[in-house]
Amino acid sequence: MLDTGSVTVRRARQEDLDAIVALWVELVEYHHNLDCRLWEAAEDGTLTYREWALESMGEPRAAVLVAEVDGEVVGFAHALPGRAPASMRERAMGVIADVCVAPGHRNRGVGRRLAEAAISHFVEQGMTEVMLSAAVGNEGAVRFWRSLGFDPILYSMHRPLA
Ligand SMILES: CC(C)(COP(=O)(O)OP(=O)(O)OC[C@H]1O[C@@H](n2cnc3c(N)ncnc32)[C@H](O)[C@@H]1OP(=O)(O)O)[C@@H](O)C(=O)NCCC(=O)NCCS
Repeated sequence: MLDTGSVTVRRARQEDLDAIVALWVELVEYHHNLDCRLWEAAEDGTLTYREWALESMGEPRAAVLVAEVDGEVVGFAHALPGRAPASMRERAMGVIADVCVAPGHRNRGVGRRLAEAAISHFVEQGMTEVMLSAAVGNEGAVRFWRSLGFDPILYSMHRPLA
């Protein structure tokens, strides 16, 4: 791993929203290119994501985090309190909804710093578990999450109907 000394991870501010949305677009396109069965952004997806991120920034139990290198936002993570499905017992669980590091800044420990900051946030909130989803074909991300102590517990199944 390369030097990570110049990376700062901090809470996102409103002025980071353009960079966050650009990284979200990168994340969605990366997944759709990996497997065309995965979600594609809606026409107003960037606007909707911006609003959602802004809402999370004002929600104490959520955290939108950015990683900066030399004053440039190069990664973000969106962490949310989890909700049990209807009729299931609530658990003190956090959900990492999105993490993305800009392509030119990967494999330098930025993603790890973001994930660790999201986990620290959940611990501060009294949460005792964390959950996330990763695409089956995203082998690098699966290794990334495994290196952070995550284990797969669910398969998400798909079949086309036409
Ligand atoms: C997955 C992602 C967030 C990882 O961020 P990163 O900054 O590149 O990862 P780091 O440099 O912090 O790596 C942390 C660990 O994961 C491992 N890792 C990261 N990417 C990996 C890859 N593509 N293949 C194998 N291992 C990988 C590293 O080896 C490292 O392990 P170590 O600490 O034991 O050396 C980043 O590659 C990314 O944004 N990918 C595209 C979007 C995406 O897939 N997001 C996650 C969706 S679930």
